[in-house]
Amino acid sequence: MAEEVKTQVTMDQLVSLCKRRGFVFQSSEIYGGLSSAWDYGPMGVELKNNIKDFWWKAMTGMYDNIVGIDAAILMHPKVWEASGHVENFSDPLVDCKQCKLRFREDNLEEENRTSRTCPDCGGELTESRQFNLMFSTHLGSVEETGSIVYLRPETAQGIYVNFKNVLQTSRQKIPFGIAQVGKAFRNEITTKNFIFRTCEFEQMEMQFFIHPSEDRKWFEYWKEQRWEYYLELGIRENKLQFHQHGPDELAHYAKDAYDIQYEFPFGWKELEGVHNRTDYDLRRHGEFSGKDLKYLDEATGERFIPYVIETSAGLTRTVLTVLSDAYEEEQIDEKEGRTVLRFHPDIAPVTVGVFPLVKKDGLAELAQDIEKELRSDFSTFYDQGGAIGRRYRRQDEIGTPYCVTIDYQTKEDKTVTLRFRDSMEQIRIPIDEIAGTIRKSTKAYRRV
Ligand code: GAP
Repeated sequence: MAEEVKTQVTMDQLVSLCKRRGFVFQSSEIYGGLSSAWDYGPMGVELKNNIKDFWWKAMTGMYDNIVGIDAAILMHPKVWEASGHVENFSDPLVDCKQCKLRFREDNLEEENRTSRTCPDCGGELTESRQFNLMFSTHLGSVEETGSIVYLRPETAQGIYVNFKNVLQTSRQKIPFGIAQVGKAFRNEITTKNFIFRTCEFEQMEMQFFIHPSEDRKWFEYWKEQRWEYYLELGIRENKLQFHQHGPDELAHYAKDAYDIQYEFPFGWKELEGVHNRTDYDLRRHGEFSGKDLKYLDEATGERFIPYVIETSAGLTRTVLTVLSDAYEEEQIDEKEGRTVLRFHPDIAPVTVGVFPLVKKDGLAELAQDIEKELRSDFSTFYDQGGAIGRRYRRQDEIGTPYCVTIDYQTKEDKTVTLRFRDSMEQIRIPIDEIAGTIRKSTKAYRRV
């Protein structure tokens, strides 16, 4: 067993591992990089997709009153007038007259804010001005005002404008929810913290439509559900906390809002928001589009604009969360240490590593056959290079929860060694029990 576990990962350690093992690369790196944009490598894309699937199942799979959609990123420009984003979605920004760096005024230290000096070079700062966070572009080939469209800054609006379509086609009744995962864009000032805050990111949002009189009940319900979800995802509970928005923090659409925060290496920060958006969005879309977005309760005959409880999680921010939470360096014995990512098995990029002890005497072929068999159930990785200990370390570093080793005994009695990432325990089992044992262990998985 491990003698010492170091759990306080630094951002430098994370960034370095992500690059080294193919999780995340700087965008356009060969051209010197594009600040605050990141690319997901072979391991990163698997991790991100697995988290997306985990969330999707937790929403549309576990509730028969939640359905999904996938709306376009580009929407009618009126959507963003109705939603209040054209008017309200801005940050107060200041520029340094000397070094030209730009800062969010509300993020400046008290000292720099009052003396109006640049935190970087000491130069004089400009007056603050509101800067809208939406990216705009032009639809079609003519650059005229009439053709301006925005890249969506939240996926939620694609759900609101489809409220009636979904209602009419899915035979849902209130209360019910619509879930969506997709890209969102914000022209943010992002200088540090890797993939935490980026201009292009992904969100996993669910809008739950309810009767206005039941908003407290459903708000509490979704706060609880979302907390449980993170425990199921394998996040340590002592790294999570709720933070209620004060009046100065509330978004323009929100009556009440709680963040679920995670303790990142750079402090407690928002991972997800649970918002009571009231009837704000549907009411405004009704007004701006001239369409009737009221709901008719057939049982009571009541017609009303539903309230919305929103759960809004960052997908790319969850990638950073699970990486921060999973990363550990531990000393195995006096000589050897290892870096291990303790991902929940359901989200690990590779579920099973398969190794022949040696390449010769038919062991490689046997191992390849076993690996091919396992492919239909799990994501697998075959590795025959180097000492077996080193092959285990390589899998530990990308968070592979199970490794299967084929040796001479396998040829005789059709058994293999199954090795568990977290405990490093090894057990001997028949080949035809590998899949079942892995499934059982995954189901019982609890982060230690
Ligand atoms: N629809 C509501 C909404 O968008 P938000 O609090 O602005 O609410 C929700 O964003 C979540 O989206 C955040 O908790 C965060 O996880 C993620 N997010 C927001 N801006 C982000 C950015 N610039 N980079 C990465 N993730 C971001």
